[in-house]
Amino acid sequence: MQIPHDEPVSAPATADDLVGALLRHFSGDTTGESVGPDLIRELRSELENNALLRDDMLRLWHMLAACMAKVERPTRTAIGEPVRILNLACAHCEEAPVLGAFFGRVAPVRFYGMDVRAREIDRAARRYEVTEKLFRKFTAPALKGEGSAFEFIADDATRLRGYKQLPDTFDVIFMRHQNVWNDRKIWQRIFAFALDRLANDGLLVITSYFDREHLIALDTFKSLGAQVLASLKNPRSRPLDYPGKSVDRHVAVLSRSKAERPSVILP
Ligand SMILES: C[S@@+](CC[C@H](N)C(=O)[O-])C[C@H]1O[C@@H](n2cnc3c(N)ncnc32)[C@H](O)[C@@H]1O
Repeated sequence: MQIPHDEPVSAPATADDLVGALLRHFSGDTTGESVGPDLIRELRSELENNALLRDDMLRLWHMLAACMAKVERPTRTAIGEPVRILNLACAHCEEAPVLGAFFGRVAPVRFYGMDVRAREIDRAARRYEVTEKLFRKFTAPALKGEGSAFEFIADDATRLRGYKQLPDTFDVIFMRHQNVWNDRKIWQRIFAFALDRLANDGLLVITSYFDREHLIALDTFKSLGAQVLASLKNPRSRPLDYPGKSVDRHVAVLSRSKAERPSVILP
């Protein structure tokens, strides 16, 4: 079976978009009024010497831009509402700031990272705090409006029915390097949980390390009633030592079902 829509997609070639969006994100200024070119230049040179903006984050940014360009994105209707993001099975979650900056271009985000491994969640929370401190050095301390909020939770996604620590639904659920190859039964339950918590007009974004696992994930989601809106082979995927595996090799965007096509959100 062919992976649908697997042609390479061109993406912006500079870090300006990412750095500018990160600055807006951490300053709480979604208008970008306080983020001028000098500030972006200054921060870029700081980040070039800092592991927090690794090449992988830039690749991730471009991947998100490429896959979202494939999905219909009418204007967000609920202006002022925060964008609710769940990063499921997130491990140490190095992508949290990038996801916040990417999806938070229209409104502040409410971000939840969840993984069953408490140690990884602890790392994720500390990592985000360090990144936030670094950016706050560069941005105005006073937040306009409410600002964004990030929370990291250690729990088992297969046992969360009726779980109250999370919002009922999310605008975006991100699952990086889903692991259905490892245990289909468990991951089918994790996928079912994700679909259950996805807003009717929300988007689920998954990535995979290798081709076969991506196909199995897409089939599993379809069997659960989800619709695949786009699936791409990531042209900027970073190769790994293991043949046939690479970072974010494939990315797919899904919605709950054909009847519930996304009608809101996203920059
Ligand atoms: C292949 S790793 C991907 C981790 C991370 N998203 C990344 O891209 O590096 C799969 C992750 O799923 C998590 N996981 C496995 N079963 C889980 C469950 N039942 N609930 C929540 N997380 C789970 C693991 O702890 C692991 O961090």
